[in-house]
Amino acid sequence: MNTIVRKVDVSLIDKTIMEEASEILKNGGMVAFPTETVYGLGADALDEEASAKIYRAKGRPSDNPLIVHISDMEQIDRLVKRVPDKARKIMERFWPGPLTVILEKSDIVPKGTTGGLDTVAIRMPSHPVAMELIRVSGVPVAAPSANVSGRPSPTQSSHVEEDLCGKIDMIIDGGPVGIGIESTIVDCTCDTPVILRPGYITKEMLEDIIGDVDVDKALMKPMSEGVVPKAPGMKYKHYAPKADLTMYHGDIKNVENKINEMTKADTAAGRKVGIIASDETLDKYPLGTVISIGKRSDEDTIAHNLYRVLREFDSLGVDVIYGETFEDNRLGQAIMNRLLKAAGYHVENV
Ligand code: TXA
Ligand code: MG
Repeated sequence: MNTIVRKVDVSLIDKTIMEEASEILKNGGMVAFPTETVYGLGADALDEEASAKIYRAKGRPSDNPLIVHISDMEQIDRLVKRVPDKARKIMERFWPGPLTVILEKSDIVPKGTTGGLDTVAIRMPSHPVAMELIRVSGVPVAAPSANVSGRPSPTQSSHVEEDLCGKIDMIIDGGPVGIGIESTIVDCTCDTPVILRPGYITKEMLEDIIGDVDVDKALMKPMSEGVVPKAPGMKYKHYAPKADLTMYHGDIKNVENKINEMTKADTAAGRKVGIIASDETLDKYPLGTVISIGKRSDEDTIAHNLYRVLREFDSLGVDVIYGETFEDNRLGQAIMNRLLKAAGYHVENV
């Protein structure tokens, strides 16, 4: 398949490109597009055949449901059985934006889109290109992250091209995304909503609006500890770079010393080492290929760079990666959730 790549100026969106893309969606095809979190791979959410194409293109397990993207609050009533009060409140506060809400699905949403579940994940993205594409196409758009299953999520168009060129109809290049990690997922089918995947919208931000919110206990633990995550996608090995990643946790001086010690031994043994550092520690590592993931003092920068840095180590062909850990408060929880998964939960205290 020939994949059309079209560049779009986000401040002046070209209508003909949006029409070309929405024709593809309406005819059961696939279009990758930027959102404020990561790039998504879109298809008509109400067309089971179109959803099936997404699973094939990504190599995604069929029990892993897709998020349905809308551009208008009015679209939601057709898609779900009911909207509980708490769900409505957080949607009103955080939409459009990086929040996904799980509700009981209506009959028009095919199980081929929801991975066989009776619930559906819904999100209204705030990126102008995503909004415009959904609006012009007039259909709810099923869109997982536009990466091959298991690889780091794409935060710029070239990442999508790397993974999916030749497998999908079109890529809309709207430049690098803003946030860089996927939306917060909140299950609103129970009295106390539960965070199934941490993201930019934190537990505290949600609790300010609706009171108590739980967090799925499985999020920060390896599956071997016997807890199965409630979001099917969170159980798969994910976000993984090709080289083995080990994270070191503790006083930052100890972390630097340990990483330097490991890097020295690996380098002597002929192994190529990558180091995930931060702006504050970049000059502390004399050996290895050192890349800063962002500023410790500004978590937004870490979220923004995270997946790009993991992909960079892939293209550099390193044999092993060592990384610092980060605080797990606020956005740090989402950052550490992704890094822990990328490391296969391999963290050592130093
Ligand atoms: O920011 C985002 O959410 C991005 C952009 C493109 O919108 N999308 C995204 O989709 O991250 P994906 O498919 O990579 O991740 C969707 C996650 C998976 O872990 C999936 O299991 C979970 O959402 N999910 C979807 N529907 C669900 C449901 N009905 N119940 C529980 N988990 C669900
Ligand atoms: Mg994904």
